[in-house]
Parts: sequence; structure tokens; C-alpha cells
Amino acid sequence: MLVENNVALQRYNSFGIQARALRMVRLRSLDDVQALLKLPDMQPQQRDMAPHLVLGGGSNLVITGDIRSLVIKIDLAGRRLLDETPKGWLVEAGAGENWHDFVAWTLAQGWPGLENLALIPGSVGASPVQNIGAYGVELQDRFHSLDAIDLRTGEPFTLNAAQCGFGYRDSVFKHPPAGDKGLGLAGCALITAVRFWLPKPWKPVLGYLDLERKRAETGVDAPHAQQIFDWVCAIRRAKLPDPVVIGNAGSFFKNPTVSPEQCADIIARDPKVVHYPMPDGSIKLAAGWLIDACGWKGKSVGNAGVYEKQALVLVNRGGATGGEVMTLAKAIQTSVYERFGILLEPEPVVV
Ligand code: EPU
Repeated sequence: MLVENNVALQRYNSFGIQARALRMVRLRSLDDVQALLKLPDMQPQQRDMAPHLVLGGGSNLVITGDIRSLVIKIDLAGRRLLDETPKGWLVEAGAGENWHDFVAWTLAQGWPGLENLALIPGSVGASPVQNIGAYGVELQDRFHSLDAIDLRTGEPFTLNAAQCGFGYRDSVFKHPPAGDKGLGLAGCALITAVRFWLPKPWKPVLGYLDLERKRAETGVDAPHAQQIFDWVCAIRRAKLPDPVVIGNAGSFFKNPTVSPEQCADIIARDPKVVHYPMPDGSIKLAAGWLIDACGWKGKSVGNAGVYEKQALVLVNRGGATGGEVMTLAKAIQTSVYERFGILLEPEPVVV
């Protein structure tokens, strides 16, 4: 296990925020995980005083200062086919694998199913934490199970989809053990490997408007999975900034849900509000549209800004601090609340 001191974190968070970790350990094997558990930082008293930070791809993170507690960088590699039956493929990846590379690899192997989730920044281990989703597919639709280690006891355990408590950009890993949703696992579990079930026969998921547009534009009526992968990459590249070039954490806020009455009230004042009815009767609003309507597109607070092509994405215009990002986020929350009566909920973890 590699322990480093005073590590610059800029390249470990997709916002590109400059901060330091006083101590960082890299986990490359399950033996490293066991060695980690023996460190003084991980003993109960110390752990409660200075909770550690588990770092995957760092793509859903706002760092607001130097990190004094232990940073655990997950570098667990490996990807393999575990089983193939007439009903599907069971594929496994180490938590440290890059998500997009893993998606591309499954397609290259001839195992379709993850193509709509192409180009989402981050690691495989982080994908279930916030139940990543895009273009009509959520991780939970392809998830089979995961392996994790309980950081309190050192015991390994496995969770199936039901046990992960998936919701919209939500899972048990986002809730504290004694939190509002009962049995949360935030801060207690270290995900080591994730398994995906890719069903046969493969069926394209094309319902999303941007994909329908691509179908109409190209005249390709029955695209194969690689074609959808290419479309998704093109759509994302056109409207989302590449974190390597412009620091960002993807969508900064969740799309809020409101009651039909609340939505009707907003439509009466703003007929163009983008809204989608949900199966449970509630209505989801496009947070990007709400922020855009408040005039935020292209605006900045210090070096943090609102992306010109998608108001839901906050960007680092160069040298932004986490404080600037959060000041901007709060200003956006206030103006959306004042105009629409809706409190936007941030997506990234703030440390
Ligand atoms: N819109 C505007 N102005 C804007 C941004 C959006 O009017 O500045 C409108 C768009 O015209 C569109 C609607 O809002 O009618 C929705 O926008 P978009 O299709 O870009 O999707 P989104 O709801 O903003 C969600 C996910 C993305 C995911 C896309 C595609 C959330 C919070 N975000 O964005 O996920 O890629 O759908 O499925 O659910 C992420 O989580 O980091 C992420 C990028």
C-alpha cells in the first residue's frame, strides 16, 4: 500500500480545484485494503474524529480546502466476463476502472447494454453510489451486484440491486447509517468491484429526444449498440464540457420533482418550462431550464462559472476555489427559489 504525504489534488478532481491532501493512500489490491484497515486513522475513535474521504474518479466532488483526514484513492483494477447464458452476459470490473473505458471495452467484446452511459466521467466504483444515468438508462437497469468492505469491521460483503436502495442519483451509499432513510452506508463501505448484467436479446434504448434527433438526422433507423455509443459521445461532447479542458462535475444540481399542482402553477407563469411526467404521478422539471430562465448561463462568480451551453453545469474558468463554486451554487439556488419556489439540490459531494 502506497502512503503519500502532502498530495496535490488538482488532478484527482474533475473540477480541477487546487487543494492538498495531508495523507493519501492508494489501494491497488484487496491486500492493500486490509493494510489500510490497520492504519491508526481507521481505528474507531480516530475515524469518528476525522472521517476519511474515499476518492474514485473525483468527478462528483467539490473540494473547499485542504483535506486533513486520510484520503483513500481507489485504484483497484480488473475487468472480466463472469458468465454468459442465453439470457445475457455477467461482467465484472474493479472499482478503480475508468467508467467510460469500461463501457467501451464491453462493446468491443460484443457485450452491448451500457452504450447510453458512454462518456460519463468517473470510476466504476463510484457508478452505483449516485446511480449514474443518461439518455434513458440508469445504472440500476444494468446493475447485478457489488462487493464492498465494511470499513468499521473489515468484513467483506455483497449487495444486490434491492440492497443498494437505488433512486434518482441516489443509493444507500449517500445516506448516513443513522440517517433519514434508515440503513445508510455513507462513509462505512468501500466498494471494491461491481458486476453488471447485460441482457440478451439486446434492445436499443432510443426514447430520449436527443437520440431520436440523431436517428432522424442520420436516417439510421435500427442503430446497433456501437452506433448509439457514438451518438451519445457526440451529444455529450456538443453540450457538456470535457473536464480535461474545462474543470466541471457534470450536472451540478438534480432535476427537481414537483406535484402536478405546483407544476401547473409554474406553467401558468412560465409556459415554456421543460417538464416530464413521472410514473408515480409527480413531475420532473429540467433544472438546467430553470437556471437558464433565471439568466445564469455564461455568468461567473470569481473563477467559477455557469457553462455557456448547459446551465446545469458549473465550470472552473481557471483557478476557481471550492468556495467560489459553492458561492455560485448558492446564488443560483437563491434565484431559482425566489422565482420558482423550488430549492435545487446539489449533486456533487462537498468536502
Ligand atoms: N435546458 C435549457 N437550458 C439549459 C440546459 C437545459 O433550457 O441551459 C433544457 C434543455 O433544452 C432540455 C432540458 O432542459 O429540454 C433538459 O436538458 P438535457 O437534455 O441537457 O438534460 P438534463 O436534464 O439537463 C440530465 C442528466 C445528465 C444526463 C442528461 C441526459 C441530471 C441532473 N442530469 O441532464 O446527467 O447526461 O440528462 O440523460 O439528471 C450528470 O448527472 O452529471 C449528467 C450530465
